[in-house]
Amino acid sequence: QTGKFTYDPGFLSTASCQSSITYIDGDKGELLYRGYPIEQLAVNCDFLETCHLLLNGDLPNAAEKKDFVSRVTKHTMVNEQMQFFMRGFRRDAHPMAVLTGLVGGMSAFYHDTTDVTNPQHREIAAIRLIAKMPTLVAMAYKYSVGQPYIYPKNDLSYSANFMRMMFGTPCEEYQPDDVLVRAMDRIFILHADHEQNASTSTVRLCGSSGTNPYAAIAAGVACLWGPAHGGANEACLNMLADIQQMGGVAKIGEFITKVKDKNSSVKLMGFGHRVYKNYDPRAKLMRETCHEVLGALGLENDPMFKLAMALEKIALEDEYFVARKLYPNVDFYSGIVQRAIGIPVSLFTAVFALARTVGWIAQLNEMISDPEYKIGRPRQLFTGSATRQVKPLAER
Ligand code: SDX
Repeated sequence: QTGKFTYDPGFLSTASCQSSITYIDGDKGELLYRGYPIEQLAVNCDFLETCHLLLNGDLPNAAEKKDFVSRVTKHTMVNEQMQFFMRGFRRDAHPMAVLTGLVGGMSAFYHDTTDVTNPQHREIAAIRLIAKMPTLVAMAYKYSVGQPYIYPKNDLSYSANFMRMMFGTPCEEYQPDDVLVRAMDRIFILHADHEQNASTSTVRLCGSSGTNPYAAIAAGVACLWGPAHGGANEACLNMLADIQQMGGVAKIGEFITKVKDKNSSVKLMGFGHRVYKNYDPRAKLMRETCHEVLGALGLENDPMFKLAMALEKIALEDEYFVARKLYPNVDFYSGIVQRAIGIPVSLFTAVFALARTVGWIAQLNEMISDPEYKIGRPRQLFTGSATRQVKPLAER
C-alpha cells in the first residue's frame, strides 16, 4: 500500500524505485502527473506550468508561474562557443547525434552547476536544461539546413519561441500561428514524463553515480533515440510513407500480413507499449490535436492522416493486435502533428527529448534528494562457463 495505490507483492519485487511523480495504470489507460490526469493538464495548462508541476510537486499559482517563466526565459540563450561545437558535426548528422553531443557538452560550459548533490546547482541546472533545449534543437535544425541561427525572443511563450527559432529567418519574421503553438505546447505536455521508461531509468542509473545533471540527461537523450522508444515517432512516419509508396490504404492489409508474419521483424510502429495494454491516453489526445491542426490548416484530407486512421481502425479490429492488446501509443499520431507544424521527420525524436527533459530532471532530482539512495547496480543471472584453467598458448 503506497498512499492511494496498492500493489501485489509480485509487482513490488520488479519495481526499480519508488516515485511520486507520474502514475500509469496500463490496464485502464490512465496517466497522472503528480495526481493530475493528463487529459486535464493538456487542456487547462501550458507546458511551463506542467514543468513547474513535475519539478516542484504542484501547479503554480499566478505569481509562482510568472516567476518560473521569467527564470526559464532568462536562460534561453546558449553560450556562443556552442556554435563552434556544432561546426564539428557534418551537416547531415542525425539531430539526435548532435543533441546527445550538445547536451553532454553543456557540462563543459556550465561547470558552475555540476554538483548534483548541491540543491542550488540542481535547481539552476534544471532551469538551464529546460530553457536551452528548444534553442539547441532549433540550432541543430538550422545547422542541418544551412540557415543562420535565430536567437530566442523573450517576449514569446516557450513554444512560440521554439517555433520562431525553428522557422524564422533573418530576412523574414516568423509569426507563430496560435493553433500550431497550442499544438506544439500540447506535444510537449504529453511527452513530459512517463514513469520509469527506458530513458528515464537510464537517467536515474547514470545520475546515481553522482555525475553532473547535463551528463545524466545526455544519457537519456541517447537512450530515447532508439526506434523501440522515442525514435518510434520518426519510424512511424517512415512506415506510413512506405505504405503510401506501396499504394496507401488499399495496401494496408498486405502490410499488416507482413507484420503478423512470425519470420518478419516488421513492427507496426506507434503501436504497442510495455505498460499500456489499453489505449495510450496520450494517443487519444494526440489524435484530437491532429484533427484540430489539420482542420485549421485545411488539411483534413491529408493522405498521411487518413492512412493513419485507416491503419488504426484495421489494426484495432485485427485479432493479432487485439489478442496481444496492442493499441496506438503516443508516437502514432505525434509525427503527423509535427509534420503538419513543419518539423522535419528527422527532428521528431529531438522534439520528444526536448519535452522529456523536464521529466528526466524531476526523476533525477527525486532520486538524488532521497538520503537513502545508492549508486545503481543491477544484478545478473550468470549463465556462462564454470571456473576453468588457462592453457599456455602453445597448448590452446
Ligand atoms: C515509447 O516505456 C514508455 O513509457 C515509453 C514511452 C514513453 O513515453 O517514454 O511511452 C514512449 O517508447 C512508446 C513505445 C514506442 N515504440 C513503438 O511504437 C515501437 C513499436 N512498438 C514495439 O516495438 C513494442 O510494442 C514495444 C517495444 C513498445 C513493446 O514491446 P513488447 O514489450 O515486446 O510488447 P509486448 O510484450 O506487449 O508484445 C506482445 C506481443 C509480442 O508478440 P508475441 O511474441 O507475443 O507473438 O506483441 C508483439 C510482440 O512481438 N508486438 C508487436 C508490436 N508490439 C509488440 N507486433 C507488431 N507491432 C508492434 N508494434
